[in-house]
Amino acid sequence: MSVSRKINDMITQSSWIRQMFEAGARLKAEHGVERVFDFSLGNPNLPPPDPFNQILRDTVDSCGVGDHCYMPQSGYPQVCVSIADYLAKEQGVAITSDEIIMTCGAAGALNVIFKALLDPGDEVLTPAPCFVEYRFYADNHGGLLKMARTRPDFSLDLEALDQAITAKTKLVLINSPNNPTGRIYDQASLDDLGRLIEQRSRDFGRTIYLVSDEPYRKIVYDDLVVPSIFQSCDQAIIATSYSKDLSIPGERIGFAAVNPAATHKKEVMAGMALTNRILGFVNAPALMQRVVSCMQGISVDIGEYKRKRDLLCDGLGAAGYDFITPQGAFYLFPRTPIPDDVEFVKALQKERILVVPGSGFAGPGHFRIAFCVDDRTIVNALPGFKRVMQHYQ
Ligand SMILES: Cc1ncc(COP(=O)(O)O)c(C=O)c1O
Repeated sequence: MSVSRKINDMITQSSWIRQMFEAGARLKAEHGVERVFDFSLGNPNLPPPDPFNQILRDTVDSCGVGDHCYMPQSGYPQVCVSIADYLAKEQGVAITSDEIIMTCGAAGALNVIFKALLDPGDEVLTPAPCFVEYRFYADNHGGLLKMARTRPDFSLDLEALDQAITAKTKLVLINSPNNPTGRIYDQASLDDLGRLIEQRSRDFGRTIYLVSDEPYRKIVYDDLVVPSIFQSCDQAIIATSYSKDLSIPGERIGFAAVNPAATHKKEVMAGMALTNRILGFVNAPALMQRVVSCMQGISVDIGEYKRKRDLLCDGLGAAGYDFITPQGAFYLFPRTPIPDDVEFVKALQKERILVVPGSGFAGPGHFRIAFCVDDRTIVNALPGFKRVMQHYQ
């Protein structure tokens, strides 16, 4: 066998993802890209906001000696200052550059955090449904992903989380606004979670961290605001990026921020600077660090995603689909009218509609629609969605 047994097993376990991908490629070759309605990827379709290209050009033009060199593993000190200043306002907490480390996206931040915190066999507890990659990220660093159910409306179920915490739990991982459900966790449930983590840390005599994966923080609808995690839990660490709110996922730029109130803040920061290096990231991309430091508080036009959300929700609602209207991010996670979500997704493929079965997100009986696509794709797919629902009703 050319690849390791473990990687081979992982490829086999996620073979339905490959099947989906292959089915999509086949449909596109057969019918043309325009006639296939691809809602399978969370790849933002909006261009980066206006100043991005100009700031990028200005940054390149102003490059001088040493501007493409290695730098401190945490990132350029000046960039960390500008991010800390913005984050302090956003979180309502006095954050300094000492608490920031620039990373290769939110995925890079999560891996840097996990490698710094996890011992072999440690558990990472997350509410389900959840982002597919979490299992792999935990496993990358000897950890084990455990899941606790959420309530039927996908809000946090504190009892379920409490029951799932064990002496091996090293961190609780949340993602709000959530991929795949679009749920935002409210202040009261985050405060409860903070208290629970504090209590269980005392019970088990070891620090349990709360890691908040927030790349969709700025993509929220109906004037909702994502509450500050640092105000709910002292031992909190944020992992985030500019992938979604600046529409630059390919540029791989984000950061991790440790709550200034965290008990072992200095050790955790030192650990993360080291893991950023030894994971092979070394440091976050130099040019992009300088660009995003000039774009604090700027994002794509969220009104565009809201329009797409409403278009999709109105159409699917009229066609008889059952779902929770997303509060943020750009995903809709409807129930399937039959228990077998993979079968339902295959039925949608016959209408040239590509979506992802909920089972892939530990949310069986659902499917995920990524609506970061052209309005035209949504409008043209609605008749197909309707026909498939009618078939099963
Ligand atoms: C919940 C969640 N976390 C992390 C990531 C990774 O984002 P990034 O591109 O910033 O690494 C994604 C990407 O889709 C995501 O949906």
